[in-house]
Amino acid sequence: MEKKPVPYRKTVFVCTNVRTDGRVACANPGRGGAELCESLKNAVKKLGLKGKVRVARSGCLALCEKGPNLFIYPEGEWRSGVSDKDVPDILKLLQG
Ligand code: FES
Repeated sequence: MEKKPVPYRKTVFVCTNVRTDGRVACANPGRGGAELCESLKNAVKKLGLKGKVRVARSGCLALCEKGPNLFIYPEGEWRSGVSDKDVPDILKLLQG
């Protein structure tokens, strides 16, 4: 194993988990997790933050009922119930 520096200034992990067994999940139809992730990716690219800020899809973050959920590394900022309308506020956290 090789130790490397963190390649991004910030990483936002967005839960895009989908379940087909009837249980709630952030990216189930109508929940918006996948759309949120795409919106953040596009906004980061548009702001020229690509390569500095990474928007990564994540699996279940274990607060499914409160989702869509995301968290920002390294700050440890967590948000639940996030939607596209929150993208500007999330971007402020990513630019700081
Ligand atoms: S499905 Fe997103 S937190 Fe569990």
